[in-house]
Amino acid sequence: MNHEWQYALNQWEAFSPGPISDVRLFFAPGRVNLIGEHTDYNGGYVLPAALSLGTWLFVRSRTDGLFRFGSTFADGVIAVRADDIAYRPEQDFANYPLGVIDMFAREDIHLPGADFFFHGNLPIGAGLSSSASVEVATATAICALTDTAWSGEQIAILAQRAENQFVGVNSGIMDQFAVAMGKRDSALSLHCSTLAYEVVPMHADGCRLVIANTNVQRTLAGSKYNERRSECDKALAILRDTWPDLDALADVTPEMWPDAQARLRAAADKLDDTAADILIRRARHVVFENARAKEAPTLLANGQLEAFGESMNASHQSLRDDYEVTGDALDALAEAAWAAPGCIGSRMTGAGFGGCTVSLVRENAIDEFVASVAAAYEARLGIAPSFYITEIGDGAREIALDLQP
Ligand code: GLA
Repeated sequence: MNHEWQYALNQWEAFSPGPISDVRLFFAPGRVNLIGEHTDYNGGYVLPAALSLGTWLFVRSRTDGLFRFGSTFADGVIAVRADDIAYRPEQDFANYPLGVIDMFAREDIHLPGADFFFHGNLPIGAGLSSSASVEVATATAICALTDTAWSGEQIAILAQRAENQFVGVNSGIMDQFAVAMGKRDSALSLHCSTLAYEVVPMHADGCRLVIANTNVQRTLAGSKYNERRSECDKALAILRDTWPDLDALADVTPEMWPDAQARLRAAADKLDDTAADILIRRARHVVFENARAKEAPTLLANGQLEAFGESMNASHQSLRDDYEVTGDALDALAEAAWAAPGCIGSRMTGAGFGGCTVSLVRENAIDEFVASVAAAYEARLGIAPSFYITEIGDGAREIALDLQP
């Protein structure tokens, strides 16, 4: 048993002493998005994959109406009575499982109480969906403990609702869906307005995904994220004057773009020039990013890795120039990757504003790639990045307690 896992077990036993036979263990992965960024809440395509990194959740039921939360990533114990569940900033990470418990209660699915203990190996707040991982682990556990036979899709939707309505972050469905539904060695091509999806085997022979963390604290992630959402809503409202049946901004195709751009420009009489220019750039990102995400499964299926890599690079440039969610650290990491040996493509992943990049790298050049990116990034930013050379794993599940991760 490795040292880290032994530490987690010891912490859990100290947090919730009692017979091991009453304990159940669950795992939910993090996710990396390969392409299709900021398209989910615009009704478009995304291409995420679940990671082998994630969150383990130990649970012991209680009958006294108390929920207790502990973890290896935050000190202290948070205890909340079942009849007093509300969002409170001081509850810290426990707000995520509490949100899930609350959403189940609204469905009339009740746990009488439980000890929840989380242990994770995902970097927190780094754009790899540590929060969705905690939410979906909790939802998977509640389904198992209450004999609720929900599908992964239902779990994902409930977990997203917890994030939107309880935690107050207006995120799309991508993260929770990937975490709940991920498939080993495959990405999921998900159409976010219908939730129709396709499992896309990663035929990336001789290549690996390398995730690099800027190690820069994300700033303004919540407020800027919500600002981008409302800019997209404004653009959609203007375009609906021309196309009343337009359901979502991502339904504007590249062929429709010249007309759409003209519409947005013409609306400048109601907006000022700067505001119109911003809406044009935000919408242009969504339209062309969606087209890239839609095409990506075909490129991967045909083994057209170079073309997929170029698409990843174009995605980053669009997120940098049009959507403006990258920032110096992510740009430095992506540019270092583009210039590094073995790089097929590289881009920021997740919401942006700090966090991680994902790169597709030739397996025989991984060491040189990592060394080159680390040196260039450190020379520019003065801090060292971290690297995760991860596997693509399965979605959330219960695991036998005697299995070590
Ligand atoms: C965050 C959100 C997702 C998605 C991405 C950007 O990860 O939780 O719903 O919008 O940002 O693609």
